[in-house]
Amino acid sequence: MTNIIAHRGFSAIAPENTFASFAPMQQYQLDWFETDVSITADGQLVLLHDDKLDRTTDHTGELTDLTFDDIVDADAGSWFGPDFAQTRLLTINDLVQIVEESHVNLHLELKGITGPNGTQLANELIQKLAPTLNYLNTLVDLYISSFNPVMLMKMHALAPDLKYAVLYDAGQFYPDWQLVADACNASYIHLDVSDATPENIATIHERGFGVNVYTVNDLNVVAELEANGVDGIFTDIADQLVPQKVDAIAI
Ligand code: G3P
Ligand code: MG
Repeated sequence: MTNIIAHRGFSAIAPENTFASFAPMQQYQLDWFETDVSITADGQLVLLHDDKLDRTTDHTGELTDLTFDDIVDADAGSWFGPDFAQTRLLTINDLVQIVEESHVNLHLELKGITGPNGTQLANELIQKLAPTLNYLNTLVDLYISSFNPVMLMKMHALAPDLKYAVLYDAGQFYPDWQLVADACNASYIHLDVSDATPENIATIHERGFGVNVYTVNDLNVVAELEANGVDGIFTDIADQLVPQKVDAIAI
């Protein structure tokens, strides 16, 4: 069976990585979701995919240059549509609440930390996350992923009991991929859809790893990947791929 993973929540129908995109998890028979965690200049852990606030909020600038006070009133919904005006950015505590209430399994992506204070902030992110992730791991099935192997190695050093996955950028899944995966203590490989060939999927499985593929929003490609035996698919259109809960369907 291939797991459907709601990428940044139900991000085709609501602004990504907000309460609005995670709220439909209560209505759908969803087993997995994905979100991205980063850090502000003053050490607050925030769910944001991009390095900058520009695309998904009415604020600008790099998250790691801004304090939490700078971003607390950012509107993270209007860019998506007027119905979502005043939707706020979420913190790690909001994520804990979402998991406690939904019990949906989680792929948490550690963002590579940019900017002149990147080294210090990356270490702070790892230090602050470890106890929270150890707690979430008692509630749901949890995987920690990153495009940045150093982040994964640092996280593993502090939280060795968690499960890890390496994200490979498009075109970066080279034949020596297992060197990085082993160094990160990963059990899963996350491939860009362009690298998810039947050969790569088979090789990954033969070597004892699982494979999840991002980000697939074409129903025909979803069906093809399922037929090729991938373990999971990150998608923005979980609303089209996962049935609604019976008690959520209006009669
Ligand atoms: O974790 C899977 C996927 O989210 C990786 O790509 O850039 O959407 O975070 P991105
Ligand atoms: Mg992500």
